Amino acid sequence: MQDRTPATAFAPFNVTLRDGREVLVREIGDYDKAGLLVAFNRLSADARYTRFMAAMRQLPEAMLEQATHPSPEREFALVAIATENDTRTIVGGARYAAAPGSDLCEFAVTVSDNWHGLGLASELMRGLVDVATRRGYRHMEGYVLSSNTSMRRLAKHLGFADTPCPDDATLRVVTLTLQSGEQ
Ligand SMILES: CC(C)(COP(=O)(O)OP(=O)(O)OC[C@H]1O[C@@H](n2cnc3c(N)ncnc32)[C@H](O)[C@@H]1OP(=O)(O)O)[C@@H](O)C(=O)NCCC(=O)NCCS
Repeated sequence: MQDRTPATAFAPFNVTLRDGREVLVREIGDYDKAGLLVAFNRLSADARYTRFMAAMRQLPEAMLEQATHPSPEREFALVAIATENDTRTIVGGARYAAAPGSDLCEFAVTVSDNWHGLGLASELMRGLVDVATRRGYRHMEGYVLSSNTSMRRLAKHLGFADTPCPDDATLRVVTLTLQSGEQ
């Protein structure tokens, strides 16, 4: 499904956050394994639960491997890197994945707790939506805990529709129709 031509390549970009700090947003790579593990270990239990919808004390090696090796055919992932005192830290990430042949992709986004409320998830989501659109997806969706007001507000600002999840009253489904510009 995913159209990967030079025209759909992702160009890294810098973001100035609401508090003036800068981060680099770029595609994830194999070299991010250690940094991603550090970022996961720093997440609060609450943030882990709202992201994975399960109590996650550790990030299993298989998940770390998968996270840093998105399938070129149907997945894409971004990380946000902050550089402070010459140390680079992963402070956020966003990804989508699609079933083979589908024009619908499912997103997930996480920002480190002490970087919340600065607009970082909004920027990561804009990058993700842009790539998914250029790579031919028509719809993006996400499953969000009903209690996750921050994510639901963010999705609303980005134009996602927010509807009940038919199978689970504790969840909402947020959905965006991707506009290719050729329509
Ligand atoms: C949900 C999450 C990703 C938000 O990250 P963030 O970087 O703080 O998000 P942003 O700063 O871009 O947006 C946060 C706030 O700005 C608001 N906002 C975003 N764009 C806005 C706009 N254009 N105008 C006004 N407000 C806006 C959002 O509604 C949100 O409000 P709130 O947090 O005060 O309720 C973060 O809290 C997180 O990582 N949580 C744990 C993991 C998780 O729940 N992931 C979602 C499930 S996949």
